[in-house]
Amino acid sequence: MDLGFPTADSRPARGMSVHFSSRTDEWPTPRWLFDALHREFGFTLDPCSTHANAKCPKHFTRVEDGLRQSWADETVWMNPPYGREIGDWMAKAYQAARDEQATVVCLVPARTDTKWWHDYAMKHEIRLLRGRLQFGDATASAPFPSAVVIMRPKTSRLGTMPAR
Ligand SMILES: C[S@@+](CC[C@H](N)C(=O)[O-])C[C@H]1O[C@@H](n2cnc3c(N)ncnc32)[C@H](O)[C@@H]1O
Repeated sequence: MDLGFPTADSRPARGMSVHFSSRTDEWPTPRWLFDALHREFGFTLDPCSTHANAKCPKHFTRVEDGLRQSWADETVWMNPPYGREIGDWMAKAYQAARDEQATVVCLVPARTDTKWWHDYAMKHEIRLLRGRLQFGDATASAPFPSAVVIMRPKTSRLGTMPAR
């Protein structure tokens, strides 16, 4: 029986009761977690959303394709689709922080054996979450652990100051 939630390896999980429109895409952030991080960072952009689940007034949906938009100078909340494309989102976040002065806070499954984890997440601050999150209106916890990855710009907005 397919109960709607994907597991980390995309097999259906037991004991889950929520159905999202696209199984691996729609994992709305728990409100308490977003609120806590929003207090800390003050997000200005949610680049992966629908109009219904967007966490910021400025947001992109599939129609605009957040991967193809500029995130320059934004403070970005990124809870990406958890399917194969997650690597593309982490690469985009990494590049936006490195080259475009974006701060990107990512909520991702803690898949510590993946290429994207090693190439992008591990280069930045990682907060491993205790326990398992309940996404959306789920009655059970997710079948995987989660992490918050914080990608900060490499330099200040003033650039590298010359030594005196
Ligand atoms: C895990 S949900 C996160 C939803 C919401 N941003 C949140 O934090 O609760 C990922 C969202 O990304 C959207 N999405 C998928 N591909 C996208 C794309 N190319 N551009 C923008 N949004 C996309 C999905 O429709 C889905 O709503």
